[in-house]
Amino acid sequence: MLDDMIDHIATVRERPVWQPIPNAARERFRQQLPRQGSDLADVYRDFSDFVVPYATGNVHPAFMGWVHGGGSAVGMLAEMLAAGLNANLGGRDHMPIEVERQIVAWTRQMFGFPTEASGIFVTGTSMANLMAVLVARTSALGRPSRRRGVGEAGGLLTAYTSKAAHGCISKAMDIAGLGSDALRCIATDDNHRLDVKALRRQIARDRALGLDPFLVVASAGTVDIGAIDDLEAIAALCREEKLWFHVDGAFGALAILSHELAPRLAGIERADSIALDFHKWGQVPYDAGFLLVREGERHRDAFAAPAAYLRRETRGLAAGSHWPCDYGPDLSRGFRALKTWFTLKTFGTDRLGAVIARCCALASHLESRILAEPRLELLAPVGLNIVCFRYRAEDADRVNGEIVVNLQESGIAAPSTTVLDGKLAIRAAIVNHRTDVCDIERLVSAVLEFGARRSMAARGESGRMAQPLAV
Ligand SMILES: Cc1ncc(COP(=O)(O)O)c(C=O)c1O
Repeated sequence: MLDDMIDHIATVRERPVWQPIPNAARERFRQQLPRQGSDLADVYRDFSDFVVPYATGNVHPAFMGWVHGGGSAVGMLAEMLAAGLNANLGGRDHMPIEVERQIVAWTRQMFGFPTEASGIFVTGTSMANLMAVLVARTSALGRPSRRRGVGEAGGLLTAYTSKAAHGCISKAMDIAGLGSDALRCIATDDNHRLDVKALRRQIARDRALGLDPFLVVASAGTVDIGAIDDLEAIAALCREEKLWFHVDGAFGALAILSHELAPRLAGIERADSIALDFHKWGQVPYDAGFLLVREGERHRDAFAAPAAYLRRETRGLAAGSHWPCDYGPDLSRGFRALKTWFTLKTFGTDRLGAVIARCCALASHLESRILAEPRLELLAPVGLNIVCFRYRAEDADRVNGEIVVNLQESGIAAPSTTVLDGKLAIRAAIVNHRTDVCDIERLVSAVLEFGARRSMAARGESGRMAQPLAV
């Protein structure tokens, strides 16, 4: 199994990025509960035949949809080792927890956070953002609010982010019981960065109405185009207004590892909390989300909950408090830290930073190809690793939507789409260390060819370009 999977990763470029799932494969996973066991080899054959060929495809260098990390074989091996140990990282005194604490210390160091800062692995940034909202909420309302509920005071809390922020922030406000209406989505400038003056005005308006501003969520890498808010200015405003300053750095925060990109994140070191994913630009396999909080005590205030059966001791297996369960909602937790530790140790943060910078260089290359090609139109500035563009056509939204589906179904490349200023964009997010110039070239050629075919079909022409595109 291990050999097969290493071969699978090594030869990934020879296969389609993604392919539609045939009904026969889906049917294999609609069977009755297996009361009797099967031979492991047969179970593995089902996996090889029906799961492996129809996976998402984000290991492939031409996968550029959403913000999917590519992982690495190093992380895969660490996952196998972690599964062998089967450690539960909710708490207690054992070495896997020390590995997680090592990552917390390294993450602190990356962002210049103080030693009292706390951190915890979670599924992903959606969860880390939710937890940050909960920490900020408890910090604003006080610990007793955890018993009493958010009450009337909670009804007055208002939070701020930009219109370009990820939808999970609004969802977090909803889940936190504050309501998504209490999140003000502030206008952005032409570069999709939060308009700090508009933020200041909105806070003043809300205060004048008797509301209680408590939190600003800045983006370090917006999901649509990778814009980084002015973190210095937002940090200063938060300090002045006494607001919790959280940074959603799902993928962009790890640009701190690149010497050339790190200055763009100036101000992140002043955040009260940062959410990020090691499974995106950190090249760690899914899932490895992370929350870093400047003041560990405030972090614990939001989540620590004593229970007789979780009694802490100074010796024995129940020693070593504080435990990870004091920093989040989970009690049972897997050993996500191990694949992150293996990845950071094996490659080193300089090399990971170089991978991140190279993804941005590839995005710039794609940008220049688009600018030089009259049939293509760039739809947003390229500040980091995300390129939004489209094929010029009448009925461009429909045409570009079809181009993306055709690209995915052809197996040549897998970008996704988004909508910018009402226009549907082909969106290529370059996150994977395996992506190369040839993948960018093939993406451009395939967009042009699918676009030309679509235009010819619209004109009722056919023929010359009808041969299938090679995978
Ligand atoms: C800016 C931003 N925030 C939050 C998220 C959600 O992260 P996750 O998918 O790890 O929950 C993403 C995902 O791409 C993102 O780009």
